[in-house]
Amino acid sequence: MSRANGERTPGISLIGLRGSGKTTVGERLARALDRDFIDLDLLITLSERRSIRSIFDESGESDFRDIEENALSTLIEHAPGSIVATGGGAILRASNRSRLRRHGAIVWLSTGIDTIRRRLKAHGVEVDDRPPLTPLGTLDELEAILAERAPLYQELADFTVATDDLDAEGIAREIAAWWGDGSFRRESNP
Ligand code: S3P
Repeated sequence: MSRANGERTPGISLIGLRGSGKTTVGERLARALDRDFIDLDLLITLSERRSIRSIFDESGESDFRDIEENALSTLIEHAPGSIVATGGGAILRASNRSRLRRHGAIVWLSTGIDTIRRRLKAHGVEVDDRPPLTPLGTLDELEAILAERAPLYQELADFTVATDDLDAEGIAREIAAWWGDGSFRRESNP
């Protein structure tokens, strides 16, 4: 997808911690804006033919990050203009941050730890496809993970939605209102 002047049509990437609602919001936003929706973790799962947890268990986080980087690169190349739900750690590599900027607007779903913990528990974190990233375990590591990533999420975001008091529909509505007619153009690269 490209604009009449040959520029890439800007897409929207959703960033934020696990359980912040990126996939659900992304689906709704894509419907509202009539764009394709791509979930980066799902793309990885389909191309690897194994779950995220299996990739972590069998190959380790570092291999997962390589796979994630490749998948993001393919996605950005082949799906301009799409709405992308990233995995929570996709922003860790500078190369991925550049790719996300190139794709278009970046929206941070900023969600409090208590809300995330409640959601992860409600969705059964033990059976969920959410491998722990540290020895603390998926629920207890959230504070440390957020402390590490919040500066990156903040620096990268063109728009931030505080999601604790909103449902997915409300979050998608806020983003669509900010997005307006889609004439997004970043003034400067952070
Ligand atoms: C990760 C988040 C997961 C997935 C992987 C690593 C992270 O995605 O990419 O388990 O580092 O926070 P979600 O944010 O979609 O759960």
